[in-house]
Amino acid sequence: MQNDAFLDPSPFYTIALDDENDALKIIDQTLLPGETFYLSLTHIEDIWEAINRLRVRGAPAIGIAAAYGVYLATKSSLPQTHDELNRAFQNHKAYLSTARPTAVNLFWALDRMEGCLKTHQELSVENILQALKEEALSIQGEDEAVCYAIGEHALSLLKPDWGILTHCNAGALATSRYGTALAPLYLGQLKDYRFKVYADETRPLLQGARLTAWELQQAGIDVTVICDNMASIVMQQGIVQAVITGCDRVAANGDAANKIGTSGLAILANHYGIPFYICAPLSTVDLNCISGSDIEIEERATSEITSMWYRKPMAPEGVKAYNPAFDVTDHSLITAIITEKGVLIPPFQKQLQNLKQSK
Ligand code: MRU
Repeated sequence: MQNDAFLDPSPFYTIALDDENDALKIIDQTLLPGETFYLSLTHIEDIWEAINRLRVRGAPAIGIAAAYGVYLATKSSLPQTHDELNRAFQNHKAYLSTARPTAVNLFWALDRMEGCLKTHQELSVENILQALKEEALSIQGEDEAVCYAIGEHALSLLKPDWGILTHCNAGALATSRYGTALAPLYLGQLKDYRFKVYADETRPLLQGARLTAWELQQAGIDVTVICDNMASIVMQQGIVQAVITGCDRVAANGDAANKIGTSGLAILANHYGIPFYICAPLSTVDLNCISGSDIEIEERATSEITSMWYRKPMAPEGVKAYNPAFDVTDHSLITAIITEKGVLIPPFQKQLQNLKQSK
């Protein structure tokens, strides 16, 4: 599956199991781009905090972190019996699943770990722990292959020299490798597509300015940061030929939740006649949500808007603020959903159902 010539997007890894020290290693994304600092997390509270505070973020990376987290925490509770093991696992799973609500990969990965626990009950406690570790490693390994496949499918929709607008960070930092929405840009770079990427800064936590710009710049990809409110002008000026983003949860009808501001981009792209693409691993598709209105939208602290990134507060003390972290793009505005199994064009419902069920 993997092309040997494929460039390592940058000399970093987002997430890894440190088996020797029973730790989860992550790059602390809150410190980027200023500092590349690795955290070594051994306590489940620290893993929960890292997910909740976006030290590790992006739907697939959140799922991978939770999978390692539930394994490490269950192991560290030193269970002696199957009952102790199962109880510890369930407690840790329930706790980690409260870290963030919108990205379905968190729940998907924890459910997959639970499936592994249940199917290996005939093994010894020690061997069940080993199976849990292998399952978490598989979740990460599969994500890498999935991202690569998404990159290949998405690249088939893009042409050399295009201007590409992206939002938030759906890159190597948000996955085990390559990213989803950024994967075709890395693959295109190898084939000399000379994309010009416009990265929305992505208020309020600036994943576009801090993270997308950082990782694309390291890969030598032409990237320009714009403020979120400049998306219309770059489309109007004809310098953007496609919008491509990741997503946190796709409902059964194709409605897609992604970083706040994504639905506005889709409306703009529609207005200007520019294709709007969503990249979604099938682990991000949630058939239990009939439409986007069933997706829980995370609401975060208002300090992220008013003071967090500023030397001094930039809004009056005590002013009200509203900070939904995601919005839902209506399926009618999405030109195609790109999964690891191929490019889906509307209507999405049947295709999503078939792909999920054939997995
Ligand atoms: O709040 P974040 O930074 O976790 O939001 C991330 C996004 O919105 C990404 O676009 C999405 O998770 C896809 S990552 C491949």
